[in-house]
Amino acid sequence: MVIKKDSKTSANVAQRTDDSTIDLEIVRDGNMFRLKLALMLGLALVVNTFASGRFGWTLSSFIDISDGISDGIVGETGNGAVAKNDASWISELWSTSLVFDETLPWDPSVYRKWIAYENGHGEKPPAMLVLTNLGWNQQNQTLGKRIPRHIRNKEFMIGIINHPWFHPTFWEELEEGQRTIPPNDTTRYYVFFDRPTYYDSHYPIYGGYNDNLDLADGRPKERWEEWPSQRDFNRKLFREAAGRVRLLQFNGGGWGLNSLERLNGSKANWPISFIPLSDLVSRVNETWDQGLVSPADKEAHLSPHQQEEIATCEAETKRKFFVTYVGNGRSGHNSKFHQVYGGARGSYFALHDNQTVFVGSPDSKQIRESALKGLAYETILMETVFGLAPRGDNKFSYRFAEVMAAGTIPVVHADDWLWPFRPELVDWNECAVIMPEKDAGNVTLQILKGMSLEERCQRRKRCYKIYKDYMERPEGLIHGLVEGLELVATTGIKPFVGIKCSDYNYSFECNMQR
Ligand SMILES: *[C@@H]1O[C@H](CO)[C@@H](O)[C@H](O)[C@H]1NC(C)=O
Ligand SMILES: *[C@@H]1O[C@H](CO)[C@@H](O)[C@H](O)[C@H]1NC(C)=O
Ligand SMILES: *[C@@H]1O[C@H](CO)[C@@H](O)[C@H](O)[C@H]1NC(C)=O
Ligand SMILES: *[C@@H]1O[C@H](CO)[C@@H](O)[C@H](O)[C@H]1NC(C)=O
Ligand SMILES: *[C@@H]1O[C@H](CO)[C@@H](O)[C@H](O)[C@H]1NC(C)=O
Ligand SMILES: *[C@@H]1O[C@H](CO)[C@@H](O)[C@H](O)[C@H]1NC(C)=O
Ligand SMILES: *[C@@H]1O[C@H](CO)[C@@H](O)[C@H](O)[C@H]1NC(C)=O
Repeated sequence: MVIKKDSKTSANVAQRTDDSTIDLEIVRDGNMFRLKLALMLGLALVVNTFASGRFGWTLSSFIDISDGISDGIVGETGNGAVAKNDASWISELWSTSLVFDETLPWDPSVYRKWIAYENGHGEKPPAMLVLTNLGWNQQNQTLGKRIPRHIRNKEFMIGIINHPWFHPTFWEELEEGQRTIPPNDTTRYYVFFDRPTYYDSHYPIYGGYNDNLDLADGRPKERWEEWPSQRDFNRKLFREAAGRVRLLQFNGGGWGLNSLERLNGSKANWPISFIPLSDLVSRVNETWDQGLVSPADKEAHLSPHQQEEIATCEAETKRKFFVTYVGNGRSGHNSKFHQVYGGARGSYFALHDNQTVFVGSPDSKQIRESALKGLAYETILMETVFGLAPRGDNKFSYRFAEVMAAGTIPVVHADDWLWPFRPELVDWNECAVIMPEKDAGNVTLQILKGMSLEERCQRRKRCYKIYKDYMERPEGLIHGLVEGLELVATTGIKPFVGIKCSDYNYSFECNMQR
């Protein structure tokens, strides 16, 4: 039996081409018919009722069809064959979610390459993304919804299940013994944990803390973070594809693991790619780990015209403000460093000149009495040539993503910060101006002033492309994180970008402290 899209009715049609029985349960639910279809992937598809005790390893897929405006549901025997070269068939057919977590929006437009491949279409992808079914994505959604989740963590999940290489059923099929990994398999597996491993105090609301939890589906307002345990790494996929399987482990804390655990502690040999928002290069594994880009709380949306100005280099002459920084002056608590060098942020305050350099706290006299007066934060950034994004209390700054969203070149002082994405994928030196914390202020300002319009234009274009490709949407973020690891696997590693404290003889000059 195959399941195909019926051209006459545009409805999902369960079509029988062998002797398996079709067992559809149609439940009248207010104005809706809810058709419960349990779909099983593979060439021989068995349609089963979700409600039956025979659920086994099949997956549920709920299709809502409005009464009256319904396209109709047909279950019938018939001709059945599906054109092999019709690429849209796969994405149209699997237009409803095949993951247990019913709160994640499934993008029907994604061409899902593993589903296609296993149904006789296209090449086998080199890698697979899978989601565990131990928490939010467990079969029993009553229990799944009792587990707290951060909004950002939900966004990661959306990016994962809508990645073209995502396989919605592989994890549980392997666990349940419904499949095995063939001995000659070369697939690389990227596993994502469906439990609360990520908490971010500042997104989507800066300082929002518990307001940043995903409460939309009745989840508890509870902050809960956990790590996968050794037990998780004993599960089948990790054992049977050892060496080709890696768990992508997000971390939203202000200071990463806050220890050397990842290097030579208990987590040193875990098959993970650690992805912290704020950690130090010297504390992570240089082969597998990568930084996580912060989201933009105040996200600028450039008009097509503004985007065109970046592409044509007109932005270099049209943008009104050369350097801006509207914010506080905190950049860690290393008072000795600040006495000598002034701090990554503080060093700029004295350079405010009300003409080309605008630096001050939002409610300061300097900003209130300048051309920035009354302008929204996002608008200021969209009119800025160089956006200062020095480290704050931690090694990273949310400002970085806001500057990137505005098509502005970030100027970053964050010694030893683990930059987002793998260096094989993104060479940040092509975009950002990266300077040691000790050179914040006039040293850096002179470099900015000396930069040619041509170089600025190239950097801005590169920055905005990075933003569009990997930062603007969760799908892009997941794509970038996985693509970087694919490059590691296929082309070998490159050194991390940025200021590395190992380049210094004195850790004092490289500001390693908070
Ligand atoms: C799901 O979990 C809830 C809460 O423990 C339980 O009451 C319910 O029976 C479970 N449902 C199924 C189908 O196992
Ligand atoms: C792997 O082995 C299976 C079973 O022997 C075979 O069908 C398949 O073609 C092999 N694949 C590759 C890539 O060698
Ligand atoms: C762990 O690694 C760090 C940095 O390489 C080193 O300073 C420290 O001594 C190591 N600790 C142990 C217990 O090996
Ligand atoms: C990174 O982890 C791998 C094992 O996954 C280990 O072989 C390698 O030595 C680690 N590198 C560093 C710099 O710790
Ligand atoms: C800053 O410049 C604006 C013009 O853009 C001017 O109106 C204002 O008086 C200046 N402020 C100071 C303190 O000089
Ligand atoms: C910044 O450096 C330039 C070039 O060295 C110098 O001319 C200028 O006076 C300095 N400005 C400040 C405010 O220190
Ligand atoms: C560190 O010290 C070595 C030798 O003591 C010297 O050659 C090198 O230039 C120094 N590097 C820096 C960045 O100061």
